[in-house]
Amino acid sequence: MEKIVINGGIRLKGEIQVSGAKNAAVAILPAVLLCDGVCRIENIPAISDVNVIVRILYELGATVKVINDNTVEIDPKHINSYVLSSEMSSKMRASSYFIGAMLGRFKRARVAPPGGCDFGVRPIDQHIKGFEALGATVTIDNGMVNARAKELVGSSIYLDKVSVGATVNIILAAVKAKGLTIIENAAREPHIVDLANFLNSMGANIMGAGTDVIKIRGVDTLHGTTYSIIPDQIEAGTYMIAAAISGGELMITNVIPKHLESISAKLIEAGVTVEEFDEAVLVRSNGRPKACNVLTMPHPGFPTDMQPQMTAFLALSDGVSVMTEGVWDNRFRYVDQLTLMGAKIKVDGKVAIITGVENFIAAPVKATDLRAGAAMVLAGLATNGTTEIENVEFIDRGYDNIVEKLSAVGANIRRVEFIESGIIRSVI
Ligand code: EPZ
Repeated sequence: MEKIVINGGIRLKGEIQVSGAKNAAVAILPAVLLCDGVCRIENIPAISDVNVIVRILYELGATVKVINDNTVEIDPKHINSYVLSSEMSSKMRASSYFIGAMLGRFKRARVAPPGGCDFGVRPIDQHIKGFEALGATVTIDNGMVNARAKELVGSSIYLDKVSVGATVNIILAAVKAKGLTIIENAAREPHIVDLANFLNSMGANIMGAGTDVIKIRGVDTLHGTTYSIIPDQIEAGTYMIAAAISGGELMITNVIPKHLESISAKLIEAGVTVEEFDEAVLVRSNGRPKACNVLTMPHPGFPTDMQPQMTAFLALSDGVSVMTEGVWDNRFRYVDQLTLMGAKIKVDGKVAIITGVENFIAAPVKATDLRAGAAMVLAGLATNGTTEIENVEFIDRGYDNIVEKLSAVGANIRRVEFIESGIIRSVI
C-alpha cells in the first residue's frame, strides 16, 4: 500500500507549472468518438482518470498512439462498440460521458453507471432529460443505462439544476443531431468552454459556451484536429493554497488568471498576497490567515472542488470562518481527518463552522476522496512533524506528479510503499 509522507513546517518557495485540466480532459477524450479523423490532444494531465478513459477508448477499438506523457493521437475509426462495462465505467464519474458520445455516434449506448467521488447521491436525471429531449429512449436495466434513438433532433432543454456533467453529455449527444439544440441554465465552467472549443475545432457549431445558454447547431461530420487542453484551475488553486498554508511564496505558471478569480479573491480576503501575470500568479503568505466565509457555487462562484483545500487553510485562521457547500449534499467527510490533526470544525449538513487553531498536530490520516486528499497534503505541509496520508490513489486521480512538484519547491514529501512484512520502501 502506498502512502504520502510529509515532514511539514517548511515554507515553500519557487515555481510550479500547472498541468492540463482533468475535468476538461475527461470530457474531451470521450468526444473523440464523434470524430471521423485522427485527433491529437496535447497538454493532457498524467493522471489515472485520463489513463482510464484512454484505456476505454482503446478497448472500444480506437487506435491510440501515446506520443509522450501529455500527448496522445487517437483514431476512433475502428470503434465498433456502444457498450461500456461496469468494470471500466465504475472507476470514475466521467465515464457517463460515453453515453452522450456513443449516442451521438451510434444512436445507441449501453453504459454501466459511473463511479466517482462519494459526496452522497450523484444522479444523472438531467443527463437523461437532455437525451430524451433529443429523441432518445433511455431505460435502466441490470444497472446499465440504455439509450437509443432512431434519430437525434435538436431541442430546447432547461436544466433544473446547473450540472457540469449534464451540460457536457447533452453537448456530446447534440453536436451531430439534426437542427438546433438550446441548453438553458447550462454550466459555465472553463472545462465546458474547452470542450466546445475542441468540438468546434473539429467543425462543430457550438455557440455560447461559458454562458448559461448554449446553442448547438448539428453538423454531419467532424474532422480530425490538434488541440491543447486548458490549464487546470483546481490544481492551480491547490498550489496557491500550498504557498499560503506553508507560509511561503510560489509562482504558479501555465494558468489562466481569469479562471482563478474567485479563488484569488478569497485568498486575498484571508490576507494572502496574489499578484496576477498573463499566464501565472504569484502567491505569497503574510502569516496566519484571516478568518473569512466561503460559499461554493457553480462557476464563476467559488469552486466546490476547492472547498476541502480552503477549509484546511481556514482551519489555521485567527478566527471563526463559515464554509457553506452550495453544490454537493455531503462533501465534508474529510473533516474527521482534519480533526485528527487538531482542527476544530463543526459540520451541520452543508455548513461547516471552522474555529481556527494555531497549529495542526501531525497524525496518520486518510484521503477520503480526490480533493479531500489534496486538503490532507496541504495540512501536512503546514504541520511540524510527520504526516502520513493513506489512499493516495484518490490523489493520483487528479494531480499530475504532486509529490515531484511539491518536492521541487522545498517540501519534504515522498511516496512510501508499505509491504506485507511491514518493511518500508521509499518509492520516490
Ligand atoms: C463535475 O461533476 C466534476 N467532475 C466534479 O469535480 C465537480 O465537483 C462538479 O462537476 C461540480 O463542479 C467532473 O467534471 C468529472 P454536476 P458532476 O453534474 O458533473 C446535481 C473533482 O474533484 N445533479 O455539476 O458529477 C448533483 O447531485 C470532481 O474534479 C442532479 O441533480 O457534477 C450536484 O448536486 C469531484 N442531476 C449538482 O447537480 C443530474 O443529472 C452538480 O453536479 C446531475 C447533477
